[in-house]
Amino acid sequence: MSDFLWGVSTSAFQIEGAFDAGGRGPSVWDEFSPVHENQNASVACDHYHRWREDVALMTQLGVNAYRFSIAWPRIQPSGKGPVNAEGLDFYDRLVDALVDVGIAPVATLYHWDTPLELEAEGGWLNRDIADRFADYTALVADRLADRVKLWIPINEPAMVTLQGYAIGEHAPGKTLLIDALPTAHHLNLAHGRAVEVLRSFNAQAVGTANNHTPAWPVGPNDVAAAEAYSEIHNWIYADPMLSGRYPDAVAELLPIADGDLAMIHQPLDFYGVNYYNPTRLKAPSEGNPLPFELVEIDEYERTGFGWPIVPAGLTEMITTLRERHPDLPPVYVTESGCSFPDEINDAERISYLDGHLKAAQAADVAGYFVWSLLDNFEWEAGYSQRFGLVQVDYETQARTPRDSFHWYRRVISGE
Ligand code: NOJ
Repeated sequence: MSDFLWGVSTSAFQIEGAFDAGGRGPSVWDEFSPVHENQNASVACDHYHRWREDVALMTQLGVNAYRFSIAWPRIQPSGKGPVNAEGLDFYDRLVDALVDVGIAPVATLYHWDTPLELEAEGGWLNRDIADRFADYTALVADRLADRVKLWIPINEPAMVTLQGYAIGEHAPGKTLLIDALPTAHHLNLAHGRAVEVLRSFNAQAVGTANNHTPAWPVGPNDVAAAEAYSEIHNWIYADPMLSGRYPDAVAELLPIADGDLAMIHQPLDFYGVNYYNPTRLKAPSEGNPLPFELVEIDEYERTGFGWPIVPAGLTEMITTLRERHPDLPPVYVTESGCSFPDEINDAERISYLDGHLKAAQAADVAGYFVWSLLDNFEWEAGYSQRFGLVQVDYETQARTPRDSFHWYRRVISGE
């Protein structure tokens, strides 16, 4: 177990702030509304200026890995063209500082902050974005491949397609429903292209971070509905990445060109699972154009977000993944965490994390990354949902470790 990765995760847009500093260009999320109480991430946790303090917090915590994301609009302000040196320098310094204190850098290349100019060209609806993403990946890999331990090209493509393009709760706010599905294929293609580019720069290890949810049918008549949901949430990404095929029902809705599946299906060194909760489904009522309907799961306690707390769902999901993809590489839980009302004595978070960590270990994972190190900008929920092991006071930017921080430190050190 000595090489188990004990980590925390964050993402650029959610913590960095400094939206117009260092030559950064605008992203789809800078423009997106509505967000809770009209909040925005122009300042967020001001991590862009306070990153040294945040690395020091991680040293105190004792993690041996830190998963962060690189903001595409800092590297290429318009999503294409030459590198913005100041942007790349920022991550170069961060990576050096992590390596210096013995924390392995785990870099995500895309955590939802698409450069605005690319969105004007269709964003993930436009197949060309995969070429743009490959170019961007090369710029980053050229500088950082010697020190980054694990690479994750795209974080949770499912959320981009479903929340960003199908129902519009996330940027870019499109409500295309089933017509959003081509974005899934383009995200997969960008993943494959990026893996190929990273290999050409001798990346140490390349994987992915997919959001997964066990799909629970209400009863025997709802099994098909649950499977249909699982196909667009879980398998439309995992299947082509791991086995080079799409579920039949979705394949016909996707703009697949010759060679695409081979490009998407690249050998991976690890597989990242982001897990929060299961989803319950029933067969659609009359008039519903979708092949499923979501049903609330109400027999479990809930997080501050109202999400049911089901640690066993994590073991179940990893088991299902291994059954479906027997060659699954080593699994990391690349995100696991919860929001609760703002308390320093956060016993509920400790209990949540304790349950999920045990569930992950029961599934024999190679590492566990808590979402998140800091309270941060929780997308459409703004600052209303706090996921941090460390509390952030957004008025003063003071960081205060919660009880869960000290709990995690003791777990890691084996005290
Ligand atoms: C997954 C996303 O990757 C992350 O950005 C988000 O904050 C958490 N889920 C919690 O919703």
